[in-house]
Amino acid sequence: MSGAARVKILSADEVKAYIEPLVDILIDCVEGGAAVSFMLPIARHKAIDFWERAAQNVACGERVLLIADDLDGRVVGTVQLVTSFPENQPHRADVSKMLVRRDARRQGVAASLLAAVEEVAREAAKSVLVLDTETGSDAERLYERAGWQRVGEIPNCGFTPDGRPCGTTFFHKLLSPSDVATTTRLTSAS
Ligand SMILES: CC(C)(COP(=O)(O)OP(=O)(O)OC[C@H]1O[C@@H](n2cnc3c(N)ncnc32)[C@H](O)[C@@H]1OP(=O)(O)O)[C@@H](O)C(=O)NCCC(=O)NCCS
Repeated sequence: MSGAARVKILSADEVKAYIEPLVDILIDCVEGGAAVSFMLPIARHKAIDFWERAAQNVACGERVLLIADDLDGRVVGTVQLVTSFPENQPHRADVSKMLVRRDARRQGVAASLLAAVEEVAREAAKSVLVLDTETGSDAERLYERAGWQRVGEIPNCGFTPDGRPCGTTFFHKLLSPSDVATTTRLTSAS
């Protein structure tokens, strides 16, 4: 899918309309071992609650939620940009919940989502981006490939879904308006 992922920004109502595929992606990632806030077994209602809260955050303008479709129009990935920070950090945004279905991985979906979410941040005049991810995970390579700077690791910061302690690695990326524009085309879902 490299270069062909169709990335869209969702409104709050669209997040609600896409809640089933978003729930499926979250459950698939957690069942695949991703340390993304949830433990096994992950009940469907917990995943629904998560995306309903995300829709509320989108409605409040506190975060931007993007999805990626495959060539058949199936939702295969998602990522969020958290934009709401205290008044002394108006230029900061956090990238959060980068999730790609296991059966759609290694085709460039996450790379497309990351390029798109960085473009959203740039357009919102966010110049300091921050994220954290599980130490040693596939995601670390994704962020390093995209030019993110590894800040450091906190050992035993959380647990994998099956209860093993895992570290958290923090990354940052500085954006400037003069950064070369990405080629990702963002469209509205409607
Ligand atoms: C981390 C994650 C988002 C990556 O998603 P992805 O869509 O597979 O990512 P990409 O396809 O852009 O890149 C993954 C790999 O495929 C490779 N790749 C990309 N396009 C490719 C193609 N067309 N052909 C072959 N390989 C390709 C990349 O080079 C990369 O290789 P590497 O892992 O050896 O470095 C996904 O594994 C995931 O959802 N994990 C669980 C949730 C998680 O941990 N999220 C991070 C939270 S911060």
